[in-house]
Amino acid sequence: MKIFAHRGFSGQYPENTILAFDKAHELGVDGFELDIQLSKDNKIVVFHDRRLERTTDGQGRLARYTLQELKQYDAGQGERIPTLAELLKAYYLGPQLMIELKYHTAWNYQPLVDALVKLLKRFKLKYPPIICSFNWPALVYLRSKSRSINIAVLHTRKPFPRVLKIADLIKACAISTPINEVSSKKVALAKAAGLNIYVWTVNSKKQAALCRQLGVFGVISNFPDKIK
Ligand code: G3P
Ligand code: CA
Repeated sequence: MKIFAHRGFSGQYPENTILAFDKAHELGVDGFELDIQLSKDNKIVVFHDRRLERTTDGQGRLARYTLQELKQYDAGQGERIPTLAELLKAYYLGPQLMIELKYHTAWNYQPLVDALVKLLKRFKLKYPPIICSFNWPALVYLRSKSRSINIAVLHTRKPFPRVLKIADLIKACAISTPINEVSSKKVALAKAAGLNIYVWTVNSKKQAALCRQLGVFGVISNFPDKIK
């Protein structure tokens, strides 16, 4: 079973920072999960929330700041908010990246998808990244921009047949399911549809054991050290 570090080794280090990714890498994880969104000047930054307060010493909505302005904030332990380009430069040889398109305004997904497709063309990554999102129209649009990119359908509280249907429509390679929604039936249905199934957020040995028993393809964890 593959282990992806959720926002890096976020259980112990500031989430979505180079420090958290470096520490996850030291543990020998298979992949990093990370969140991306656009700064005011259309740079792709690695950041989870709509607003800066929870994880930095800044205030307000991230999208209102340019990259240069964002870089002045402390994202924890002196870390700065990384750009996706910085992460790709550091980790083009792996681990594999699972990049979540974050949308805090659901309708405006095209600029981020366009910027991501353009940026990925600049890098020759050893392991093809997997792009996921709860925003399914964004994934449909992403597929229209790239026939070959790996897409995972992220879902929660949606009827499973709908998840499988959208995965089929956009030729996804995977789905990503919350731990409280996974079941042997869903794993079997995903496999029958030719889809890898990832489960998040798997933070305990017990949850990891359940996923192994169910035959889950990969798990996404804040504590990859605990579940290896
Ligand atoms: O990849 C799944 C998980 O990261 C989705 O939820 O809120 O942690 O981005 P969230
Ligand atoms: Ca995420």
